[in-house]
Amino acid sequence: MKRLTGKVALITGTGGGQGRAAALQFAREGAIVVGCDVDAAAHEETHRLLQAEGFSLYGNAPVDLGDHEQAREWIMSAIKQHGRINILYNNASAARFGAVDKFSIDDWHYTIRNELDLIFFTTKYAWEHLAVQGGVVINIASTAAWGGSKVAGISAHAAAKGAVVSFTRQLAVEGAPQGIRAVSISPGFVRTPGTAAFVDDPKTRRALLDGVLQDRPGEPEEIVSLALYVASDEAAFMTGSDLVIDGGLLAL
Ligand SMILES: NC(=O)c1ccc[n+]([C@@H]2O[C@H](COP(=O)([O-])OP(=O)(O)OC[C@H]3O[C@@H](n4cnc5c(N)ncnc54)[C@H](O)[C@@H]3O)[C@@H](O)[C@H]2O)c1
Repeated sequence: MKRLTGKVALITGTGGGQGRAAALQFAREGAIVVGCDVDAAAHEETHRLLQAEGFSLYGNAPVDLGDHEQAREWIMSAIKQHGRINILYNNASAARFGAVDKFSIDDWHYTIRNELDLIFFTTKYAWEHLAVQGGVVINIASTAAWGGSKVAGISAHAAAKGAVVSFTRQLAVEGAPQGIRAVSISPGFVRTPGTAAFVDDPKTRRALLDGVLQDRPGEPEEIVSLALYVASDEAAFMTGSDLVIDGGLLAL
């Protein structure tokens, strides 16, 4: 028996590194995967990869989840097509970086909108459907929630991801009576198409891996394996936790 057979899993950011891996791994475990991304071409490529393995990627793109109407529309069309939501995997995000004194107001709002607002919107609209039979919310935070960076100015990103962790704890409190679990995952540095340029540049790579005990970036599949566990019934006793997966960065 596969771990997610028959579960309807809504995954955001299915055009990106972790979202694509999640769509593939969740489908292989029997989930009905509904994705979306603001980047239609990247989402379409994920669709093609699933089809090549005999799966479907439901959902649509472009969807800008920072616009609450589009977030609602995406949730409603999943309900219309599949009749239920078992898993909401809030993975999508986009951030801007810069030293706090030089950081523009626009860049601050962009980061909060695309790292935090979108998680509230999808959760708000999915909640009543998750409550029907007790679902799971997985929110992707970051080690930026737990520590600063000497490499990049991450004030907005850190604020947003810290909020993702505390938002998740409150979801766990409100969700428990309805059988909804909520868990955040805080990855360290992960190799994705978006971070490949940093990984490949020896100087930046050295700086980013400073303090990472395993001396390498994580792979998207390693983060998704943890999310898969959280989404499954094996994690039935887990809610309100933040799970750090960072190659040992926070151990120092
Ligand atoms: N890559 C890392 O090193 C790292 C480290 C810690 C946490 N994370 C977190 O992991 C998650 C996945 O990121 P990733 O590494 O796969 O990055 P990624 O950039 O490859 O993927 C993110 C995807 O989200 C989409 N997206 C952004 N804003 C959107 C919006 N408003 N509406 C719809 N889609 C939107 C992007 O188009 C992109 O496809 C993110 O929450 C990120 O903050 C990443």
